[in-house]
Amino acid sequence: MSQDDAKRQAAEAALEFVTDDMIVGVGTGSTVNHFIDALAGMAARIEGAVASSEASAERLRKYRIPVLELNDTGDLPLYVDGADEFTVHRALIKGGGGALTREKIVAGASRRFVCIVDQSKRVDWLGSFPLPVEVIPMARSFVARQLTRLGGQPELRSGVTTDNGNVILDVHNLEIMEPIETERRINDIPGVVCNGIFALRPADEILIAGPDGIERIR
Ligand code: A5P
Repeated sequence: MSQDDAKRQAAEAALEFVTDDMIVGVGTGSTVNHFIDALAGMAARIEGAVASSEASAERLRKYRIPVLELNDTGDLPLYVDGADEFTVHRALIKGGGGALTREKIVAGASRRFVCIVDQSKRVDWLGSFPLPVEVIPMARSFVARQLTRLGGQPELRSGVTTDNGNVILDVHNLEIMEPIETERRINDIPGVVCNGIFALRPADEILIAGPDGIERIR
C-alpha cells in the first residue's frame, strides 16, 4: 500500500464520526484532502464545515459544501485533521502545510479532535520533524535567537506567507521530551503567534492506517 493509499484509508475511516446536520471542522493537508473528497459524498447531509485554511475552504466549496465562519458557529462537535508526527500520548507536531495557527484554533474550539495519519508519522518523541513556528514578520530574528537558546536551529521557510500574513520558522533538532512545557515556553516568546506542538490540546483519537488496516489510539 502506498503512503497516499494509507492517507486515504485513514481519511475515509474518519467518516464514521460525521453525523447528520453536523458542522465539521476540517484541517489542512494531503490526508485531509482525501477526507474532504470522502465528505463530498455526504455533502447534502451535513450543515457545513469550518476550514482551517483557504486551501481547504476552496476544496470544500468545489464540492458545494457550505464553508462557515467559526465566529458564527460557536464550538464544533468534531475536528478532523492530519499531523506530521504523533506519539502514543496523542501529542502532535502539525504545521508542515503552514496552517498551524488556524488548525490550533479550530481544534481548540472542537469537542472532539480526530487525527488521521499513515503509520510513517509515529514517533517515540516529537522533534524529528522540524517544528513549525508562526511568527510576526518584524519579530523574526528576535524569535529565531530565542529558539536557538532553547536548543533548536530555526530556519525561515522560504517564500511562505501564512493565511494570517506571517512567516514560519521551522526549528530543527529539538528533542521535545516534555511537549506541554515546550509548547508553553515557545508560545511565551513575544512575536510568536503559534507553534506546531499540539499537546495542551492533543488529539482525542488517532486513526493510523497501515498494512493491517486502521489502528486506533484513544
Ligand atoms: C498542515 O499545516 C499540517 O498541520 C498537516 O496537517 C500536516 O502537515 C499533515 O499533512 P499531510 O496530511 O499532507 O501529511
